[in-house]
Amino acid sequence: MLEINAFAKINLSLQVTAKRPDGYHDLVSVMQTVSLADTLRLRPSREIAFRCSDRDLDTRENLVVRAAELLKQRFRVDEGCDAHLIKRIPVAAGLAGGSSDAAATLRGLSRLWDLHADLRELCDVAQEVGSDVPFLLEGGTALVTGRGETVLPLQTPLRQWYVLTKPPFSVSTARVFGATTSSDWADGEESRALFASLRRGEPVHLGVNSLQPVLFRLHPAARRCYEDVCSVIARPAMVSGSGPTVIALCASRADGEVAADELRKKGYWTAVAHSQEQGESI
Ligand code: C5P
Repeated sequence: MLEINAFAKINLSLQVTAKRPDGYHDLVSVMQTVSLADTLRLRPSREIAFRCSDRDLDTRENLVVRAAELLKQRFRVDEGCDAHLIKRIPVAAGLAGGSSDAAATLRGLSRLWDLHADLRELCDVAQEVGSDVPFLLEGGTALVTGRGETVLPLQTPLRQWYVLTKPPFSVSTARVFGATTSSDWADGEESRALFASLRRGEPVHLGVNSLQPVLFRLHPAARRCYEDVCSVIARPAMVSGSGPTVIALCASRADGEVAADELRKKGYWTAVAHSQEQGESI
């Protein structure tokens, strides 16, 4: 049996630069995987079988099944797999949980099925499953551009603790992207500058998120969560991806836990997580 971690993703910066003819948006984003993770267990089997600890996600529509079927087709594989997913990353939260499960499936099955697939080949399949999946194949810290398919990894791992805070509702990524207008678009320079500063070894800081004001227009409760995080943690905070999870830097795990306890008392889901390399070769 193979057991694989599927790490959550946060955006240290995310700028939407344009709407594309295919309906998606071009981005410039600094993405980071963090230690909060789902677990995927894979066993060889004849058919593709799937079960999930979260009953709402225990369907054939799950991205784990989609990724497995696409990979099987692309590499003309005869075998199947028995996949068991244990969820911890909240759903529709801006943390790319489903995309990370799909990336873990591609990594795991390429080993289980002995595909000898290189990153480029897996990346082609990953793109078809979702925009964040190519980054999540390798994880770590990266400058991600295009729709999400161009991934430039940072060579030196970062060491940083974060508090993640999510209000008790989910958000449709498509709806948030769909509500952006040209006034929300930017040239991506702030995200590129953040990546350049991380390359120079400067301390981690947060950039900007083009989707944050869009999210706040659609969901005023998301702004309240952001303001609560800012009042509890006296450091900059920002929405991750299309939200509604808010991320904030913290100095240590202990500091993060104190803030997380306080935010939990206000009714939020919270997690304290550190920046995370994938740590598993493809
Ligand atoms: O690629 P994925 O299925 O994860 O994206 C979910 C939705 O988010 C898309 O249907 C699209 O509406 C929006 N999106 C976008 N541009 C991106 C990524 C996502 O418009 N680069």
